[in-house]
Order: sequence, then structure tokens, then C-alpha cells
Amino acid sequence: MTTNGERKIITVADPAALAKTAAERVIARVDENPGRIAICLTGGSSPKALYQLLATPDYRARIPWDRIDWFIGDERLVPRKDKLHNMSMAREAFLDRCAPAANVHPIATDTADLRDPDVSAALYENELMAFYGAEQLDPKRPLFDLVLMGIGPDGHTASLFPGYPAVEETQRWVVGVPKANVEPFVPRVSLTLPALASCREMLFEVSGENKRAILTRLFAGENLPANRARSLGETVWLIDQAALPEDFRG
Ligand code: 6PG
Repeated sequence: MTTNGERKIITVADPAALAKTAAERVIARVDENPGRIAICLTGGSSPKALYQLLATPDYRARIPWDRIDWFIGDERLVPRKDKLHNMSMAREAFLDRCAPAANVHPIATDTADLRDPDVSAALYENELMAFYGAEQLDPKRPLFDLVLMGIGPDGHTASLFPGYPAVEETQRWVVGVPKANVEPFVPRVSLTLPALASCREMLFEVSGENKRAILTRLFAGENLPANRARSLGETVWLIDQAALPEDFRG
């Protein structure tokens, strides 16, 4: 393990080790909180193996499903049945089998008037505020126990794309992002950096050779959303060997 700024970098051999290490960190955060637990999931392909692992008998038995609420850090504005829908991927991978339906909090995308990302964003912000019980985030009382994140090829994270005003947002918890910077080019809804930061741990999963170029830029300190996303608690980047830039290989 190495520390890079305030961020901890953990390298693992391959995607299977990545999912296992992430699953153990999920369990550790859950074990730490005897009360109500909030976990913010992410979309993309990287977390799928973790989600599937959490539904396997060993992990499933270690998780107090009744005490955990599941949110999503960003959503693509497509119908629930669309394979691009982030929360539907998580539902299919583990939530539908394991979590009580009332504990799953998707971003609404389905009806015609919800095709406006700002409408969906406002609804989700209200839902998060109601769950938190306040309209202001208190640094001493994080919104989430754990926030999962991924990194896109342009250095975006959640749906916070480089150079977009959403990255600079300091007041709102959730914003509409009318146009994506990379595929899929559908409108997005995204939690903002301050909302995502309000957690005990922010855990990035980064896997595969096609992440090497963007990791090289991020490690060089470029001012990109993935570099600006930090937890008020612990920030951890879990990276597999294939994603690791040459210079960082052991
Ligand atoms: C999204 C994501 C996004 C994702 C990264 C990495 O909705 O697109 O939440 O931020 O995490 O783009 O995606 P991959 O895991 O597919 O590489």
C-alpha cells in the first residue's frame, strides 16, 4: 500500500482480487457501524464483480441487509429496463436478491417529465436530505458510510466531467448533467463533489489496461474530477496490475 497525497493506493493482482479486496472493505465499513448504514454505489463496468460477490452465500451472510440503505452516485437518464441504467445493473447483480426493496434508492428516470435531468436531480436531492434529516451537510456526521467510485477515460468520476460546471458545484447535493462528455451520450444526474465527500470512505475501483493512460495523467496531478473527488474521511484507490502505469509497477 502507498499513500499519494491524502489518498491511499492499494494495488492488487487482477479483477478477482480487486472485487475481493473491495468486498472486504465494504464488510469492514458495515461492521464499524452498529446503526443505520448508507452506501452509495457507482455505475460502469468496474463494480459489477464486487456486486456479484456480495450476493454469494459467504458475503451475503455477513451483511445486515435490513440495516443498509443503497444509493447511487450517478445515473444515466434512460428507462429502468435499459442495460445502461446504473441502478438496474446493481439490482440485477445483487440488490434484487439480497436487499429489502425499500432500502434501495434509485434516481428516478422513467416518466416523460423525468427526462429533464434537473427534475430527477431535485427529487433525489430531496430524498437524500430526508434520509440525512437535514439540508446542510455536517462534516462531523457523514451522509454515507461508503461511496464507491470509478474513473472514466477523460478523468471523470460519477457523472462529473472535466470542465463542466457540475464539478464546481458547492451548494447542491445532486445536479443534472444535460450532456455527457463520453459514451454513453445520454443526459446524466450526478451527486456533487461535496455530497460524495460526505462519507467515512470513498473507494475507487480501477481495473484494466484501458485505464493506464488516464491513471498516468491523474498521478501526474492533472486537475481532473477524479483527482478532486476526496472523502472527508478516507480516500482509497484500488488498482489492478493491468491498470497500473509502467512507472508504478513493482
Ligand atoms: C457512469 C459511471 C462512471 C463510471 C466510470 C468508469 O455512470 O458512467 O458512474 O463514473 O464509474 O466511467 O466506468 P467503467 O467502470 O465502465 O470503466
